Amino acid sequence: MQETPKPSLVIVPWTKEHDASQFTSNLASIKKYIQEQAHRNVSSYTSSVFVLTEPGDMVIRGYYSLSSLSIVFNELSEKVQNRLPRYPECSGILLGRLGVDKDYTQKLKRETGSKPRLGELLSANAQIRCLKTSKHVGSALLVIDAEMPSNDEQKDGARDPLPFYEKYGFVPLTANPRRVIKTMRAIAEEFKTV
Ligand SMILES: CC(C)(COP(=O)(O)OP(=O)(O)OC[C@H]1O[C@@H](n2cnc3c(N)ncnc32)[C@H](O)[C@@H]1OP(=O)(O)O)[C@@H](O)C(=O)NCCC(=O)NCCS
Repeated sequence: MQETPKPSLVIVPWTKEHDASQFTSNLASIKKYIQEQAHRNVSSYTSSVFVLTEPGDMVIRGYYSLSSLSIVFNELSEKVQNRLPRYPECSGILLGRLGVDKDYTQKLKRETGSKPRLGELLSANAQIRCLKTSKHVGSALLVIDAEMPSNDEQKDGARDPLPFYEKYGFVPLTANPRRVIKTMRAIAEEFKTV
């Protein structure tokens, strides 16, 4: 997995000057969030949003959002529980949304002849950011709710993102199999150099 952005791309905090008007996604909620909801979420400190752009360009090519949450301890697997202190709830960071611009991905693919791997880039960047953040405000887990595309979205090419997250070490909760978690300890072990 790549640990840093490609030199030709940057991942920076969202500002209201960023432009999501042309953002395309197979998942309507991903497009709607960055076009209509990010502003309110950021200005109210509900979530932080980080956007992928070309340097010096304000057009959003991908993004993710982060907020804090807690998870009921008993919902965690025994293996995870055994490595955590036994409080009724466990601290975590929710990676609420993550998406790449579909048209931009296809354009880069045509130009370079290979997958730009923007989802992987965003996922790694989010994990590193959460690890750094949790050194200031403890968070034992990174949590993602993998949204299943609707039937219509699947007909248009949208894929279930769950296997994407599992590929990078996220594990579904038995009590809620659409919710995947990765411990901050596992992220720290994976990104040792950070
Ligand atoms: C999910 C998403 C972010 C992945 O980004 P991407 O740029 O297409 O993925 P990458 O090219 O970086 O993929 C990296 C690897 O994961 C695989 N992968 C990507 N999406 C996958 C999926 N849905 N299921 C299984 N594997 C997937 C790729 O094939 C690639 O595998 P490889 O290492 O064998 O080549 C992107 O498809 C997207 O924006 N989807 C719509 C929004 C969405 O579903 N977001 C998650 C909601 S919580």
